[in-house]
Amino acid sequence: MSAFKDNLLAGKTAFVAGGTSGINLGIAQRYAALGAKVAVAGRNPEKAAAAAKSVGADALGLSCDVRDYGAIRRALEEASGKLGPLDIVVSGAAGNFLAGALDMSANGFRTVVDIDLNGTFNVFRACYDLLKRPGASLIAITAGQAVNPRPMQAHACAAKAGINQLIRVLAMEWGPSGVRVNGISPGPIAGTEGMARLAPTADAEKALTNRIPLRRYGEVSEVAESAVFLVSDSARYVTGTILDCDGGSQLGDASDRRGAGLN
Ligand code: NAP
Ligand code: COA
Repeated sequence: MSAFKDNLLAGKTAFVAGGTSGINLGIAQRYAALGAKVAVAGRNPEKAAAAAKSVGADALGLSCDVRDYGAIRRALEEASGKLGPLDIVVSGAAGNFLAGALDMSANGFRTVVDIDLNGTFNVFRACYDLLKRPGASLIAITAGQAVNPRPMQAHACAAKAGINQLIRVLAMEWGPSGVRVNGISPGPIAGTEGMARLAPTADAEKALTNRIPLRRYGEVSEVAESAVFLVSDSARYVTGTILDCDGGSQLGDASDRRGAGLN
């Protein structure tokens, strides 16, 4: 069920970095369903081609690594050249794995920071002069790790915290040109690679679900609705914000404490 009209994004162009699977692909598909012309990008060219096909007959599937500034710039140029100046850019590429700091090499830490944080800088820096200004809207996909420290997640916590500040700085710098910059912080989303890595067993999923105020994982389609709102005219005075689409997860552990004292 969506509150948005079917042609809401007609005439708009969107580029979704990391849009070849999971949450970001769901966002790309929703933008296309609402009338936008869409490009999705990821490292694997076959995956990108298949993702584009699932987005729509005219969608572009591009292959690039967000850690490589030249490569992401070329992908953005190809998208804006073929689809037109960009109205919407989503930066959602990420990498993650569970490892304590002592089980993580310097390269393991750097790899995640490079994809998530440096990748988001690269995508936004490289797209700026290809944007339709004023009126363009950028979204970075962040996570609860940005705010709440979590063991085995030093790399993702550091990277996503950096993304949150990057969102706010760019919102300040680019607001005067009419470019809005916001973030979405999804909670645990069902059926995604991220949750397969972070809560790989049924027991882990159950324990996590019991802590979420809304007592369930979210759906990809629910994050996509938040991504539509932020780029829509309804959010025209919204910039520098991070929308938690997480069932209340950020509020803390909401498990039933009866009989457990205050802990
Ligand atoms: P996913 O399915 O693994 O999607 C990651 C996407 O990024 C894929 O398209 C992947 O394609 C691409 N990618 C990865 N590394 C890349 C690189 N170096 N350069 C370019 N593209 C790259 O992940 P997901 O679980 O849906 O998560 C999507 C986003 O939501 C991430 O930002 C994640 O941190 C955030 N998030 C997820 C959850 C969750 O519950 N899953 C919760 C909170 C936040 P290739 O592998 O082909 O490159
Ligand atoms: N535990 C500890 N270290 C790990 C690890 C794990 N589970 N997985 C990878 N690493 C380390 C590697 O050992 C390597 O360090 P080293 O060179 O010192 O040995 C470093 O991380 C880079 O690994 P590599 O496989 O070369 O990186 P990559 O660029 O090919 O892939 C990853 C990046 C590791 C993040 C990979 O998991 C990936 O591509 N993820 C994308 C999908 C994803 O994570 N989705 C969820 C998003 S929330």
